Amino acid sequence: MIKVSNISRSYGSGETQVNALKDVSLHIKENEFVAVMGTSGSGKSTFMNILGCLDSPTNGDYSLDNQVISDIDDVSLSKIRNQKIGFIFQTFHLLPRLSAVDNVALPLRYTDMSPQEAKERGLEMLEKVGLKSRSHHKPFEMSGGQRQRVAIARALVNKPQVIFADEPTGNLDSKTSYEIMDLLTNLHQQGQTIVMVTHEEDIAEYAQRIIRMKDGVVIEDTQCQK
Ligand SMILES: Nc1ncnc2c1ncn2[C@@H]1O[C@H](COP(=O)(O)OP(=O)(O)OP(=O)(O)O)[C@@H](O)[C@H]1O
Ligand SMILES: [Mg+2]
Repeated sequence: MIKVSNISRSYGSGETQVNALKDVSLHIKENEFVAVMGTSGSGKSTFMNILGCLDSPTNGDYSLDNQVISDIDDVSLSKIRNQKIGFIFQTFHLLPRLSAVDNVALPLRYTDMSPQEAKERGLEMLEKVGLKSRSHHKPFEMSGGQRQRVAIARALVNKPQVIFADEPTGNLDSKTSYEIMDLLTNLHQQGQTIVMVTHEEDIAEYAQRIIRMKDGVVIEDTQCQK
């Protein structure tokens, strides 16, 4: 489903140029659960941003769901992002003034779904993450783990083909992190494709495959025994 061929990404030019990704090639199949690991500055976020259509590679080809992404315009890119991809971030990225259900339903504003339908879908997703009873709470009225659940519900609301999570447990204590990982595992078992960046080995162990990066290249790509 994800096919990356010889992609590179550099920032800046001349003497200050940084080659954040160097000639990376790999495939990710439907319903894989992949963890991307590596030290700070190894290129993980750069890689995820390209996979998530938030950024384009300087060189190389990227195709998602049999569609070549690397050379399309920004408008088409944001359309693909909206329809095919769900994002989860370390710092949740919820809108503080919106209730949980409105946060979850937000991506549906850019579709032709009616507000009523959108709200129902939002509630359905909150139920999926065990937070239906908190649907009218604002982010500041919720714990970190609950906020991340809302963000996961929002990532799911468009029924995305793939979820990209950049350190989804980075701001959570270990108990809450494991709860969030159980939730992601559950979604994976229901068929969801997930690509997640993490620094923590015990979090990466939830995945089926671990890709390790260093200085912009993939240095290891292992299937985990489960
Ligand atoms: N917008 C940018 N402009 C210039 N250099 C950048 C930019 N974004 C990232 N870099 C550089 O590219 C390299 C890879 O950065 P990246 O953010 O992908 O690392 P990372 O593996 O996600 O690190 P971390 O674990 O700290 O999040 C780093 O050397 C970084 O300084
Ligand atoms: Mg990063």
